[in-house]
Amino acid sequence: MVSGTCFAEWGNNVVCMDKNAQKIDGLRKGRMPIYEPGLDELVEHNYAAGRLNFTCNLAEAVTGATVVFIAVGTPTRPGQGDADLSFVYMAARELASLIADDTVVVVKSTVPVGTGDVLQTIIGSARKAGTFSVASNPEFLREGVAVSDFLAPDRVVIGVEDERANRRLIELYDSTTALRNTPVIVTGRRTAELIKYAANAFLATKITFINELADLCEEVGSDVKELALGIGLDRRIGTSFLMAGPGYGGSCFPKDTLALLRTAQDYGVTLGIVEETAAANDARKQRMAQKVVEAFDGDIDGLTIAVLGLTFKADTDDMRDAPSVPLIKALQRLGGHIRAYDPVGIENAAMVLDGVDFFEDPYECAWNADAAVVVTEWETIKKIDLAQLKQHLRQPVLIDLRNILDTEAAEELGFRISAVGRPASPDSSLQEIGKRRDRQRGFKTERVDPFSIAIREK
Ligand code: UDX
Repeated sequence: MVSGTCFAEWGNNVVCMDKNAQKIDGLRKGRMPIYEPGLDELVEHNYAAGRLNFTCNLAEAVTGATVVFIAVGTPTRPGQGDADLSFVYMAARELASLIADDTVVVVKSTVPVGTGDVLQTIIGSARKAGTFSVASNPEFLREGVAVSDFLAPDRVVIGVEDERANRRLIELYDSTTALRNTPVIVTGRRTAELIKYAANAFLATKITFINELADLCEEVGSDVKELALGIGLDRRIGTSFLMAGPGYGGSCFPKDTLALLRTAQDYGVTLGIVEETAAANDARKQRMAQKVVEAFDGDIDGLTIAVLGLTFKADTDDMRDAPSVPLIKALQRLGGHIRAYDPVGIENAAMVLDGVDFFEDPYECAWNADAAVVVTEWETIKKIDLAQLKQHLRQPVLIDLRNILDTEAAEELGFRISAVGRPASPDSSLQEIGKRRDRQRGFKTERVDPFSIAIREK
């Protein structure tokens, strides 16, 4: 949706094809199938200008096209870890006999190394004669800011194996003055395919690194936000993607790290850092409930917890691999009742969560709850009126898994607040637990984990 619309915005004639008639019908009436800020205006504008069209008919979309992008999903195969390429192969088989000679078929979907070679064979064997090219052009869009990421990318990566594809794609990206200062990296198809996975694995590792440091900060009394700035201002490190939180989620990082590991395994290579990143992130998401349990001395049975934010990050309605899901399930297993707020994610959240009361207003969500837990960094949550929030809660307990609330202001209002990788409130029971731990350490006793106590008691 975003790529097609933005290509139209740059003056190309674009036809977006999907098999889901409901989506296509909705788009023709101006209804977006996804929540993505800024996209609806752009679609409306380009549709009205006649540069952007929608169809369920593949022939209508590809006949006469000089470039055809395949942008179908490549989800993780359940239990396997590798990417399910059946939609990519299906698209290639179906378009093979419909494309004109000299068409460049470009894979935008995230696909393992060598997929372009397979497509070359699939399309080649379906076409009796005629020339075509298969290229790779990975996308690096982030949900929520995908339009600006497309229109002003850090770089464009093009993977080609022949001159036709090279010329056509350079033309496509060079035709726009907007990209005049953007580096375009032209490389082989297999390198382009791997660049996408390497970028996502690196970013996932960066997040996991700061999350592990956040754990250490909590123990030693340092502040991870300041630590992140302190290291990030070193230009070799960079300040972005150093926000500690409940663990990364979404449609890419969890899936792409697993798929990369699977590729490495297939080729007999060990990617120890990526392996550790994926495992540490999974464990972190499972552990987040511990922060809530700790605030209640290890027992939340019968308590009501207000979860503020459900989607895997702000500005999207996407619930894929959202940290809110394992958190809520763990809290429910420990006897907690869940009220949850999200500005746009409730419909998708209701499909993956049971026994949760959903609210479109954060204060209503907090009503009579024993604690509020911030899980997604929505603007509405960043700007929440802490005094009003406190009035709605039954107990003034606040757990900020995104470090977006003003800890000092919350403490002044009488909240017991805990955040990620930062010291807890001086008067909170969390602090008490910390002191107890220190005492236990002093006596060289075994470390007590309130979460495991609660589980054992259950
Ligand atoms: C990601 C890549 O950034 C993008 O280039 C690729 O095309 C698709 O995957 P996206 O999944 O939309 O984009 O979101 P992103 O902003 O990268 O965040 C992914 C996850 O990491 C979220 O759960 C987010 O909350 C988390 N995150 C991100 C952190 O916990 N800390 C950070 O500092 C940054």
